Amino acid sequence: MRTPIVAGNWKMYKTIAEATALVREMRYELNETEGVEKVLCPPFTALSAVAELLRASKIKVGAQDMHWEDQGAFTGAVSPLMLKELCQYVIIGHSERRQYFGETDEGVNRKVKSAFKHGLIPIICVGENLTQNEAGQTEAVVTAQVQAALRDLTPEQVQGLVVAYEPIWAIGTGKAATASGANAVIGLVIRGTVASLFGENTARALRIQYGGSVSPENIGEFMAQPDIDGALVGGASLVAAKFVAITRTAAKSKGARI
Ligand code: PGA
Repeated sequence: MRTPIVAGNWKMYKTIAEATALVREMRYELNETEGVEKVLCPPFTALSAVAELLRASKIKVGAQDMHWEDQGAFTGAVSPLMLKELCQYVIIGHSERRQYFGETDEGVNRKVKSAFKHGLIPIICVGENLTQNEAGQTEAVVTAQVQAALRDLTPEQVQGLVVAYEPIWAIGTGKAATASGANAVIGLVIRGTVASLFGENTARALRIQYGGSVSPENIGEFMAQPDIDGALVGGASLVAAKFVAITRTAAKSKGARI
């Protein structure tokens, strides 16, 4: 049985003061929601303050990116050694990193391996853009991203990580994928690729989230799908009531998955 996991990707929003206010607003209710893993991913500058506020809770903290090197002359970058003092999770290969900051499949793989080296759990993002989607290339694009991201990993490592399927056309647009469409990519393409590379057991154990315009209104449909284990939430994670509602619905769906 895979425990659902809901993560809030705050992107480049929230000063330290705003971040702590948001955490205080939802900390109690999130913590009380059982049967779902909760992760907050604030910007680097707020990680320390958020981690401090969540220290005694069951809510986990994640970063939104990292460098693969332990340390070095990489101005502006943040290393896994720095992150592991503050968080348990790290988002790797978000489409905004790929699109605007030149993140490559090879870089994603390096970061994933480095995260494991330092005991951080990667949330690996994959997903096709609108042109690829309309050209019928979703399966090819997502398969290639998954294969590249997981290169050289062991089945045990793959079982412990999280993949987020985020079609780029659904991110921040208010136009979420259909639940059945997302489930097909997640089940057939992502789990299928993992099964062929690492075996059926690994594919069944791996948790895969859907991301892209997730809301309190649509989360139930996604969670009712057998292969969707949670959500990576952007915009709605910046509003305490919405993120709490999404998390509660995800928790209630426990048992829907195989
Ligand atoms: P969104 O973002 O929920 O605002 O669409 C999701 C994401 O980019 O992780």
